[in-house]
This record gives sequence, C-alpha cells and structure tokens, in this order.
Amino acid sequence: MGGTIDRREFLDRAAVGAAAMTLAGRIAIGQDTPSDRVVVGVMGLSRGMALTQGFSQQPNVEVRYVCDTDCTRAEQAVAAMEKAGKPKPQIIPDFRKMLEDAELDALICAAPNHWHAPATILACNAGKHVYVEKPCSHNPWEAETMVEAARKHKRVVQVGTQRRSSPNIRGAIARLHAGELGRVYSSRAHYWGGRGSIGKGQPADVPATLDYDLWQGPAPRKPYKNNLIPYNWHWHWHWGNGELGNNGVHTLDLCRWGLGVDFPVKVTSNGGRYCFDDDQETPDTHVVGFEFADKKLITWQGHSCNPHVEDFITFYGEKGMLKLGDLGDVTIYDTSDKIIHEEKGVLGEPEHIANFLAAVRANDASLLNCGVEQAYPSTMICHLGNIAHRTGRTINCDPKNGHIVGDDEAMKYWKREYEPGWEPVV
Ligand SMILES: NC(=O)c1ccc[n+]([C@@H]2O[C@H](COP(=O)([O-])OP(=O)(O)OC[C@H]3O[C@@H](n4cnc5c(N)ncnc54)[C@H](O)[C@@H]3O)[C@@H](O)[C@H]2O)c1
Repeated sequence: MGGTIDRREFLDRAAVGAAAMTLAGRIAIGQDTPSDRVVVGVMGLSRGMALTQGFSQQPNVEVRYVCDTDCTRAEQAVAAMEKAGKPKPQIIPDFRKMLEDAELDALICAAPNHWHAPATILACNAGKHVYVEKPCSHNPWEAETMVEAARKHKRVVQVGTQRRSSPNIRGAIARLHAGELGRVYSSRAHYWGGRGSIGKGQPADVPATLDYDLWQGPAPRKPYKNNLIPYNWHWHWHWGNGELGNNGVHTLDLCRWGLGVDFPVKVTSNGGRYCFDDDQETPDTHVVGFEFADKKLITWQGHSCNPHVEDFITFYGEKGMLKLGDLGDVTIYDTSDKIIHEEKGVLGEPEHIANFLAAVRANDASLLNCGVEQAYPSTMICHLGNIAHRTGRTINCDPKNGHIVGDDEAMKYWKREYEPGWEPVV
C-alpha cells in the first residue's frame, strides 16, 4: 500500500470538495428525487443516536436501519426518530444483514473502536460507502487495511473528525497554509475532562438485552464484567485506545492538517494512570510529543480527570499565533501577542455529514473533507503515541508511512490478534 496523498493534492481536493458540497447540497434540497436519495443504516447507538438524528435532518436521506447489540438502545433510537416526526427505521440486530440490502448506500459506524476497521472493510467489500467514527481503527495495521479496502472498491469513506468541515476551522487552516503566520513550526493541543473512577469490575451475567458475543465481534473473547459496557471499554487496550485515541485524535488531526505534516520521525510519551486505582489501563494524565522532519513539532497533553479549561489548539508561526477553540472559534495574535483577528465558530457536524452525502451522491471520495486517505495518519499517530507509552521508550518512524523503525518489541502492537474468523480481509 502506498503513502498518503501529498499536501498540495489534498488542498486542491478540499477546494473542489467545498464547491461540490454547495452544488450537491442545492441539488438535494431542490429535488428530493428517489434517484438522489441516500439510504443509510446506523451501527452503534450512543454516539450513533446523534448521527441518526444528524443524517435524518439532511435532505433526501432515508435512515432505513438502526442497529445495536443492546436492543434497548435500538428501541430508544426508533422512539427518538418517531418523536422527531421522522420515518421509523427498522431495527436490525446484526449490521451484516443490512449490508445485504442492495438499496443501502452507506453504513454509519459508531460502534466501539475495535469495530471501526472490521466493519468498514466488510461494508466496502459489500459495495457500501462508510461514515466511520474516530479513531478510524483500533491499531495501525487496520488503518492501512481500511485505506486499501476503500481504494480497491472505490468507496467513499469519511472519518468522524467533524471539525474538518467547520467553515471557521477550514478558513483558519487556509490562512495558515497561505502563510499569514509565516512558517508555522509548532502546534500544541489539550484535552481536559472530569472523568471519575470506573472502579474494579466484577464477573457478572451478561444482561439479557445485550448480545455480548456480537459486541466483541473481531476481538478475542473475554469474560463479561460489570464495569466495561457502555463506554469504559475506551480505557482497556483490548477494545479502546485511551484518551489519546478518544479525544486526542480530534485535535491531533487539526494540528497535523495546519502544520501540513503526515507522519512523524520520532514519538515520545510521558504519563500514566495517576488518578485512580481502578480497572483502567490507559493513561489518564498524558503528554505526547511528535517530531516531524523539517523542524516541526506537535505536543498533546491530556488531563482526563481534571476539568480545568486550557487552550484547545495553538499554532505557533514566525509571524504570530493562531488559536482554535473546541467549537471552532478562531483567534489570531501578532508577534507582540496582540489579538488581530477574532471570530466565533461552529463545530462542523451538519457540514461534515452533508459533505459525506455530497461525495456519496457523486460517488467520488476525492470530494471528502476528511476521507480515510487524509484521516488515517491522525489515527496512526495516536497509535504511535500509545505504543511509545506501552513500550516506555521513544519510537522512531519512517516519515513516508509512519512505520516503526528498528524496534521489534514495538512492532508487536502494530496489529492485534483476532477472534477466529474475524480477521479483516480486503
Ligand atoms: N465524533 C465525535 O464527536 C464522537 C463523539 C462520541 C463518540 N464518538 C465515537 O463513537 C464510538 C462509540 O462511542 P460511544 O461513546 O457511543 O460508546 P458506547 O459504548 O456508549 O456506545 C457504543 C454502542 O455501540 C454498540 N455496539 C457494539 N458493538 C456493536 C455491533 N456489533 N453492532 C451494533 N452496535 C454495536 C453498543 O451496544 C453501544 O450501544 C467511539 O468510537 C467514539 O470514539 C465520536
């Protein structure tokens, strides 16, 4: 598999994408024709509940299926759609069944991280487009394999780092790329949160409403315990990617985009589990450094258990600084630290969904604001940061593709083991 597209090509595509989004948006709003209708099914209905609503609010979209391994969540999603006055989607317990529907255009995957790549690859193999949540994969091998699947089957695969479609953030990044701050050489991002302990889980009976076998899917089987589902799987390496892969990926994606870099040459990690003695394995307090060729640096700092608000993202250039807020606000400073531009922003979620739908209608992945081709290096660098943490040492990488150089132990984390029969095949 080759590397990523270069930056110039990406910027060209982004510009074409914005124009096509406007055109396709107008066509969709004006016509609402069956031939233009996009039929989708949503898998995983916590985050997926918001996406179900978000897709159903777009013109000429049919949310035909909702799917969850917890049947109560599927019922809640149907009730929410009915309450919103939308057509009632069909509940389907196993997403593979919806892929058999020839009229289904796209799978929306908001299941846990261990599902992202396997479900995306199965959907691409079945000829479906995919909107998949971040991080796009559970491990580096999967990220590369899902790019291979999208390319091979020529499918439109958008990753759910929605700020890529915020008009304010797009404008701010365009300013950076146009050289308004001179050479931009460094970017720093923060996550802050007020997470508590998840305690020590106990072996328990699987609730009658949950299909735990299908929830585990591609992941080798582990006994059920009572503090894992929902959400706390994020903090276990077997299913999740810690805060770096959970919230870090949102900011790192923008840092990378602004600096115009793909893969680092060196990754370092400091931190660990500083706050609670519980079942979580992934760091709650974490500082990760990514050094790129050509003297560029990204640092990410996560404080998962302290809600003190910090700057979301800062870019440092020769002629000033640019700050992005988590909702897309933009502030620019000159070299004397004086504010020279300020604007309120939007997150970009409806725009991100509309951009995906425009690309699906045109059957053209190059129109995407955050196609898997552009997005996967952001997920890869999160994986590399976690690998630096797990090995306890600096990871050296090939800047062409992010591959780990000269470290067999670190390479053990490149790919996971799969439950027999579940290893993705393109
Ligand atoms: N883009 C964003 O802003 C954003 C926000 C929140 C979450 N997310 C992403 O969404 C994903 C889900 O996170 P969450 O907070 O909703 O987690 P969660 O554990 O609360 O919900 C996941 C849901 O998926 C279901 N599920 C698991 N396996 C399934 C399968 N095979 N088929 C159908 N449903 C299945 C679970 O039963 C559960 O209801 C994560 O990858 C997360 O990173 C993105």
